Amino acid sequence: MSEPVYQVIGDAAEVAENRGKAYIVDGVQIAVIRHGGRLHAMDEFCTHADASLAFGIVKDGCVACPWHYAEFDLETGAAKSLPAVKPVRIFPVRETADGKIEVAIGGGDA
Ligand code: FES
Repeated sequence: MSEPVYQVIGDAAEVAENRGKAYIVDGVQIAVIRHGGRLHAMDEFCTHADASLAFGIVKDGCVACPWHYAEFDLETGAAKSLPAVKPVRIFPVRETADGKIEVAIGGGDA
């Protein structure tokens, strides 16, 4: 597995606790979500019918899709409840000391 190559995508202050925000990074549409003070990055769109997980309900380590409430694990991307059955991809993400969000698309766990 190759080393993740991080790039700055925005300011960490743009993503409030238990909220998400959509970004396009190298042509990949992702949702960055903050939960428990930590950032998580995943495919933006739900694997059931393509709702944006950037507008999901964040609770108990999961994001629930805003349309039909399928839940995805923020750590693994696994679909935890119906109607979604396929996982979303997760991407390495970190918050820098100077308050930026960095994401790695390609390499790492993606
Ligand atoms: S679009 Fe996400 S659960 Fe249906």
